Amino acid sequence: MTEQIDSLSARDLDRVCSLVYQHSGINLNAEKRIMLEGRLKRRMTSLKLDSYSEYCKYLFAGDRDPNEITQLIDAVSTNKTDFFREKEHFEVLLAKVLPALAARNGTVREIVLWSAGCSSGEEPYTLAIVLTEYARLHPAFRFRILATDISTSVLEKAQRAVFTAEVVNPVPPELRRRFFLRSKDRKSNLLRVVPELRQKIEFRHLNLMEDFALPEPADVIFCRNVIIYFDRPTQERLFRKFARQLVNGGYVFVGHSESLHHMDVPLVPVAPAVYRKADGYDRK
Ligand SMILES: C[S@@+](CC[C@H](N)C(=O)[O-])C[C@H]1O[C@@H](n2cnc3c(N)ncnc32)[C@H](O)[C@@H]1O
Repeated sequence: MTEQIDSLSARDLDRVCSLVYQHSGINLNAEKRIMLEGRLKRRMTSLKLDSYSEYCKYLFAGDRDPNEITQLIDAVSTNKTDFFREKEHFEVLLAKVLPALAARNGTVREIVLWSAGCSSGEEPYTLAIVLTEYARLHPAFRFRILATDISTSVLEKAQRAVFTAEVVNPVPPELRRRFFLRSKDRKSNLLRVVPELRQKIEFRHLNLMEDFALPEPADVIFCRNVIIYFDRPTQERLFRKFARQLVNGGYVFVGHSESLHHMDVPLVPVAPAVYRKADGYDRK
């Protein structure tokens, strides 16, 4: 007897891709069938469902758990991240961006940074490390970080602030000693971020596809390795929203494989994958 191999029907593949796109802007397509099937399998196992068609019946039924969309987005989003990922960006931040913001605003105002699509926290904790070091040398410097993501499971992980030694490895040894606590259990390879850094970051659930307004404008937005999953019109809309959330002369960092080239947005390139808000563009 031949074994029945279950796969998503073309119709279900289409329906799931549209639902994900509608809710998150994440543009899955038929080429990603294998990836999508693998990730849906995890949801099916949790729900004790045996086939993709049963899962889709559940997903598109009127009485499904409203939380299933969140679970689905969690399952299909790519959360890969690292401490000090694309580390040239942190050099640009220190050498170019902070001095420019200080020259513009004076040093008295607290700088607000936003890590949009922060995943499990490695990016905002890296920012907190780098900026805490900067503040040691510039005592008048103050900062705060807002870190947001659509995925509730990565946000929980980020808030726990517990990482394995392998994950923390890209942090230079001296900074590792200063900003991470070892577990009391000497055999454990887990480390926790020190409270001094944790209190600098506010983690919040935020879907970049929805209308949002920050309580106050940001000076710097890090949105790296997020737009790669969006189509071009979605990217353009998002960057116009970012420009509205930035102070005049504020900065946006994107991933090195991402670009705003040929987009009609009020952001001008100033360094590789770094943009500054053009003067005269309003917040409203
Ligand atoms: C590949 S990770 C990048 C993490 C980090 N910025 C970095 O560069 O290491 C992309 C993150 O974007 C989040 N994301 C995807 N779509 C989103 C949306 N519509 N709103 C908010 N976050 C989203 C994903 O959940 C994921 O955690």
